[in-house]
Parts: sequence; structure tokens; C-alpha cells
Amino acid sequence: MKEGSHVIVLPFPAQGHITPMSQFCKRLASKGLKLTLVLVSDNPSPPYKTEHDSIAVVPISNGFEEGEERSQDLDDYMERVEASIKNSLPKLIEDMKLSGNPPRALVYDSTMPWLLDVAHTYGLSGAVFFTQPWIVSAIYYHVFKGSFSVPSTKYGHSTLASLPSFPMLNANDLPSFLCESSSYPYILRTVIDQLSNIDRVDIVLCNTFDKLEEKLLKWVQSVWPVLNIGPTVPSMYLDKRLPEDKNYGFSLFGAKVAECMEWLNLKQPSSVVYVSFGSLVVLKEDQLIELAAGLKQSGHFFLWVVRGGEKNKLPENYIEEIGEKGLIVSWSPQLEVLTHKSIGCFLTHCGWNSTLEGLSLGVPMIGMPHWADQPTNAKFMEDVWKVGVRVKANGDGFVRRGEIVRRVGEVMEGEKGKEIRKNTEKWKELAREAVSQGGSSDKSIDEFVSML
Ligand code: UDX
Repeated sequence: MKEGSHVIVLPFPAQGHITPMSQFCKRLASKGLKLTLVLVSDNPSPPYKTEHDSIAVVPISNGFEEGEERSQDLDDYMERVEASIKNSLPKLIEDMKLSGNPPRALVYDSTMPWLLDVAHTYGLSGAVFFTQPWIVSAIYYHVFKGSFSVPSTKYGHSTLASLPSFPMLNANDLPSFLCESSSYPYILRTVIDQLSNIDRVDIVLCNTFDKLEEKLLKWVQSVWPVLNIGPTVPSMYLDKRLPEDKNYGFSLFGAKVAECMEWLNLKQPSSVVYVSFGSLVVLKEDQLIELAAGLKQSGHFFLWVVRGGEKNKLPENYIEEIGEKGLIVSWSPQLEVLTHKSIGCFLTHCGWNSTLEGLSLGVPMIGMPHWADQPTNAKFMEDVWKVGVRVKANGDGFVRRGEIVRRVGEVMEGEKGKEIRKNTEKWKELAREAVSQGGSSDKSIDEFVSML
């Protein structure tokens, strides 16, 4: 490796993508690389340095004029982002070359596969970064190739058994867009397109670790140059070595750190249910009300992230009624929370980052998947890694309060909870091992660095 080799990293502009890719930047910086993290932003500002001297952040426009309302139409949004990146990135690369700091590779988000050609046009290696597990990408790949045809409804009974390493998957274990293709045609195209040029990519990075998807790994490594580099959870959380000067990374923006910690500090060990649905999921009002009732009825303490726009869906007087039993915040320091001794389980939408965080930090989970890759993540969480349970929804996808109460009880108090706790210890150790010096992900990162 050349000391100070320079790499550009470009995530899709959403929390669930920016967080793992920015954490990956930090790992690369610790191995001696120089990084430019390009962030697509509403308000592009001049480049700035982060707390790491070797990581510069360059915000570029999302293609909307200042003051112009951001489009709700995803097609329009993505087209603008693509046009803006295609306009700004070449100039940025040329400027870097002129200033004697030429980038060698572009690490780009899998949802923007057209960046591979941009990288190649300007003489850079193209490294795609997947923020979802292999099982999900493998399914999309088979759909793309036409070797798996999707059941037309979510409630069909088709199974996908074309690869020996897959468990039997029911239709409602599949990534949601496949079965609801008519509801989200653009998103469906985007998720499938992630795999459209993977056969030409120079390096394939994934936020998972070898042992977690061991069976599937054999197959993916036989077809692509795969490097599993996860979990991207900062090692200080995995090792429980929280330094004085806590380096929170990017995801803590707006989090109620002191409020959450003070509240948690007053609780008994393993007595609190942490509830979060990530950065994108919007629950329907009746579902949010049902969940609120279930949490209250469970009798357990709960710390619930209800994002700003959703607070007004809570039942009237709910916050007064729950009193000390529950704390509702609009954003939490999730890693801090998950490592807190008072947390007994994590009720999660099973976004891939949250699933990996729960698993790596040894927190039993209750999966309540909403859409995208979440049903598949939930299936593996429950049936393959066995670190939690998944709530059962009615035929129409609605989860009743009684089911929430039952699952919380099962994990917090039941025999099942004890079994799950044993498994979480195993996975926590394996995750820590993977990113420790000489572990599989650490070696993959070294290999990536040496390829440049
Ligand atoms: C999405 C998809 O769900 C995910 O599966 C995909 O692969 C990436 O993008 P999102 O729905 O936001 O992301 O969920 P998740 O992947 O779990 O990411 C949320 C991130 O925000 C996590 O890293 C979590 O720690 C962080 N978070 C969430 C907080 O820091 N505070 C909160 O209050 C809630």
C-alpha cells in the first residue's frame, strides 16, 4: 500500500447509508488512507475537516435550488441527485488530481450503480458498498437475472429454494418491494438495479461479516470479488471501552443524549425495552396507536424513539399516562443506548444497521419489520441467528397490541428469552472477533487497502 492513498466515499443520502459508510471511512483512515467523504446535501457548504485529519467531508448539492421544496416524488429526487453528482464529481476528481492528491478508488453506494462508469471514466477503481446483508442482495440478483420469479402477492406461499444456502423463505420473508411491486415501481427498479452491473465491479464491499453469512459467502465469493468489512459499529462500543472523549460519529445529530442516559441510569439492569424504527419508516396512525397501547400494557419500562413528525399520532395524554414507565425522544444515541446495562431488549424495524447493531452488541431483539429488506433481516434474526423473535402481523400486515405484549414478555421474562440471551452472547463475541485485529473483517479491510 502507498502511505496516504486517497479514496472517495459516496453514500446515498439517508442515515442508514451515511452511518455505515462514514464509519468505514474511519476504519480506512486508521489504516493510513486519506478519505474524501462526499455527502449529498440540501445545503452544500465548503469542504470541512472532521476530527480525523485524514478525512475531509465535501458536501455537494442534491440538485435542488436553495429554497426550492424537496420533491416527494422519488423518481424526480433520484434523477436530480444523479444529475448533480454527475455534474460535480468529475470536477472534484480533476481538482484532486491537479492538487497532487489523485484518488485511486471510488467507494459508492450500491443504490447508485451508475457511479461505476463515472469511476472508470476518470481512471478510478470502482468499489460498490452494500448496506444490506448478502441474503438480500442475492435475492435481488436472482430476480434481476430472471432465475427467481416473485410471487405476485405478499401472502402467496411461494418459496425460494434455488440456492442451497437459503433457508426456505415464505413470501412475507422476502424484501417487501418484490411482492408489492405495483405499489413502489421506482423503488423496486432501484433495488434490483443495485445488482445490474455487479459482474463488472472491481471490489464488492458489504457491511456484514463472514461468520454471519457463512453459507452464502461461499457462493458470493465464487462469483464476485467480495470483501465483508462489518459490522461498522465503532469498536469502542464492541469492546465496551468508552473513552473520555466520546467520538459519536455522524448519527448522533439531534440525539437527546443526556436525557436518555439520565433516564436509563435510574433503571435496573435489563429492565428497559428500547424501541426504534430507524430513520425512514413512518407507521400508520392506527399502528402507532396500537404499538403505544401494547408498550404501555406490557408493564415494562420503555425508551421509544418517535420521530418529530410522528409525535402528533400518539394518543391524547399518552405521555402523562405512561409517566415514569416510558421516555419518548425524537432521536436517540442508539449505540450508547444499546450498550447501556438497563436495556433488556430492542424492538426494531430490522433495518440492517439496527439489526447488526443489536446483534453485535448482544441485545435480544423483537423484530417488527415494515418494508424493504426488513422482513428478510427479521427472518434471519429470528430463525438463523436466533437472537430474537418476530411479531406476527394479521393478514393485512397490522400488528395488534396483544402481540406486542406477548412478544415483550417472551423476550424479557420467558424461557425463550434465556435461550435468546445465550445466542446473543455468541454473536456478540463473533462480531467483536471479526473486526478485531486479525479478524475476518479487519483482514478484508487490509486487503482492500493493499489493492489500491
Ligand atoms: C435503511 C434500511 O432500513 C436498511 O435496511 C438499509 O439497508 C439501510 O437504510 P433505516 O430504515 O434508517 O435505514 O434503518 P437502519 O438501517 O436501522 O439505520 C438507522 C441508523 O440510525 C442506525 O445506525 C441507528 O443506530 C441510527 N439511529 C436510529 C440513531 O442513531 N438514533 C435513533 O434514534 C434511531
